[in-house]
Amino acid sequence: MTTSDLQKITDNAIASLKSVSSTEEAEEWRVAWIGRNGKLTDILRSIGKIPKEERRSIGMLANQTKSLLEESLNSHLESIKVSEQDVSSTKTTLDVTLPGRNLPSGGLHPVTKIVRMISNIFKNMGFEITEGPEIELDKYNFEMLNIPQGHPARDMWNTLWIDYVNDDGNYPMLLRTHTSPMQARHMESTKPPIRVLVPGKCYRYEATDATHEWHFQQIEGLVVDKGITFANLKGTLYEFARLVFGEERKIRFRCDYFPFVEPGVDMSIDCFICNGQGCRICSDSGWIEIMGAGMVHPNVLEGVGYDSNIYSGFAFGMGPERIAMLKYGIDDIRHFYSNDLRFLKQFSQTYS
Ligand code: PHE
Repeated sequence: MTTSDLQKITDNAIASLKSVSSTEEAEEWRVAWIGRNGKLTDILRSIGKIPKEERRSIGMLANQTKSLLEESLNSHLESIKVSEQDVSSTKTTLDVTLPGRNLPSGGLHPVTKIVRMISNIFKNMGFEITEGPEIELDKYNFEMLNIPQGHPARDMWNTLWIDYVNDDGNYPMLLRTHTSPMQARHMESTKPPIRVLVPGKCYRYEATDATHEWHFQQIEGLVVDKGITFANLKGTLYEFARLVFGEERKIRFRCDYFPFVEPGVDMSIDCFICNGQGCRICSDSGWIEIMGAGMVHPNVLEGVGYDSNIYSGFAFGMGPERIAMLKYGIDDIRHFYSNDLRFLKQFSQTYS
């Protein structure tokens, strides 16, 4: 046994350690090289047979070699364990055979869908779509709509006033009670011919029940030009009703009062559930009211600087929640804003 023999054994041991890739193989390697009957152990045992002069240096080198191999084994084992852990943690987190997880997908709110559907119908008739402020001035919500301070018609709207008082003791701002203030705002900011549709949120100081909410949406329509007559109002709204509720619908107009139109009407369709026979939906009347409408009052036209001898127009206002309730058979307006997914999910496929 010479030092170069020992060196060769060391080189071989280190080389074969490189191909060891598991804890089991590492144990085999340990037994083969430094175990009780391992190659290096054999050498250490046979040291006694070596001539005395060489024994010391070879013995020292053999012991150093043993420590070196032990250290190499230990550090190699460490790296094997780390990579074994990597593999097992990958195994638990990535199983490519598992089916994918469904991502929940949202849908548009049923009222939003109805607003879009109605907007599209009027867009196709040449209306533009615009929106207005939800915090409104008394001036637009009432005054310019022919409802001056102290006018009894103000009682028709249960109003949420903004807590700010003018020098004259009046509240100048409110949460708009309807979308009609946009009639005045839009006329002020443009010139006839006007064909505009205004969807938006409105608010009222209202005790809620199955048909009343303290906040809700409205869709306002306004047409102003030379020579607009009640026939234009009827034709436009008739077409709208047939597109939403069916070709065979009949319509009915009855006198109603809104200070900003003259004449004013409420418009009904014949009940599409019972075809006018009378049922729960139409309260046995055969008719369902769907909106208020009328010819724009001359005072409103003059108020925005239009000459009412030259220009005339019609306006209408409807509640999309009510249209949705009728169309889908929903019995309580409060469902729309209670955030109950069981309700909302029923509409995720319609009019998307
Ligand atoms: N603004 C009215 C309301 O809220 C509806 C309406 C609009 C009536 C336009 C006539 C013309 O009741």
